[in-house]
Amino acid sequence: MGRVYIRTRLIVLTLAFVFFVTGCVGGDINPESKAPMKVPKSETPAKDQITIGFSMDTLKEERWLKDRDLFKEEAEKLGAKVKIKEADGDDTLQIVQAEELISKGVDVLVVVPFNAESTASIVNKAHTAGIKVISYDRLIKNADIDLYISFDNERVGELQAEAMTMLVPKGKYVYIGGAETDNNAHLFKKGVFNILKPSIESGDITVVFDQWTENWTPANAYSNMAAALGANHNQVDAVIAANDATAGGAIKALELQGLKGKIPIAGQDAELAAAKRIVEGTQIMTVYKPIRTLAKTAAELAVKVAKGEKIETDRKVNNGKIEVPSVLLTPIAVDKLNIDETIIKDGFHSREEVYQ
Ligand code: BGC
Repeated sequence: MGRVYIRTRLIVLTLAFVFFVTGCVGGDINPESKAPMKVPKSETPAKDQITIGFSMDTLKEERWLKDRDLFKEEAEKLGAKVKIKEADGDDTLQIVQAEELISKGVDVLVVVPFNAESTASIVNKAHTAGIKVISYDRLIKNADIDLYISFDNERVGELQAEAMTMLVPKGKYVYIGGAETDNNAHLFKKGVFNILKPSIESGDITVVFDQWTENWTPANAYSNMAAALGANHNQVDAVIAANDATAGGAIKALELQGLKGKIPIAGQDAELAAAKRIVEGTQIMTVYKPIRTLAKTAAELAVKVAKGEKIETDRKVNNGKIEVPSVLLTPIAVDKLNIDETIIKDGFHSREEVYQ
């Protein structure tokens, strides 16, 4: 009896051990089996984790900090990891950093290009490694990019010029452009001139100064504005600047001539400094581009692209090489009258910060 009992216990224990080590209670013992193994969540293979590489040109303007943080936040909500590199306005560095992301094997690459043309090499390298590329806010030109997500940037310029021509229908205009290397700078300018054209043709408006601002810096915008005032003996009626940072630089030049608040100036980005200037009357308008919507849309699409899902868009934008599937969000003109119901209502800036 004793022996039988011991043998039975041994068999039971051995079977229990086999079941324990194979972890196959209710599962599949045969490793060759076609049925998928049940893997507990905590042991999900690393491959299921999507990693997004985010290559950014700069964090200089206030908006890019929001872009960085919101993109990361939205992507993480979707279970993705984000590896961020910022090139501090250095073209070569951005390409090197993007190569690092590619060699680390990110699943998709999202790029805010410093230089619209030279970043095409990033796209080629990523594609060779089987990684798809999304152009974020700024278009990469002459490359097979997979998707472009931005605002309707031509409309941004139109909104600026519409507001300015309402206020100053006739006179001498100064245009302080953005960085020539940035495709957006060309779109903003195109929008402005779409609206100014009839008045230029009728002779009501004369554009007395029109220059790019290298690297978008306020210091270069200051020099441009100083040159515009110098060349026109301060006889200028309106200024349109390609963004709020360049508007800030131009306002310094106006201030030096005692013209701050006297010559109307428009910008875009809805930076806090610009919102404050609108309230105090030294800038007439800005253009608000809801960054959270951009970041959220980009994060959602990046995850889909990484999973190999097909993306349908209703817009296409020609980048000199292909018709790029595109999502273009709507910008909003902001002045003293609607600042509360736009940027403040959206929590882009708080009421206290703006009216401080
Ligand atoms: C962006 C602007 C920004 C500028 C300078 C442009 O491409 O659209 O929002 O102010 O770059 O960074």
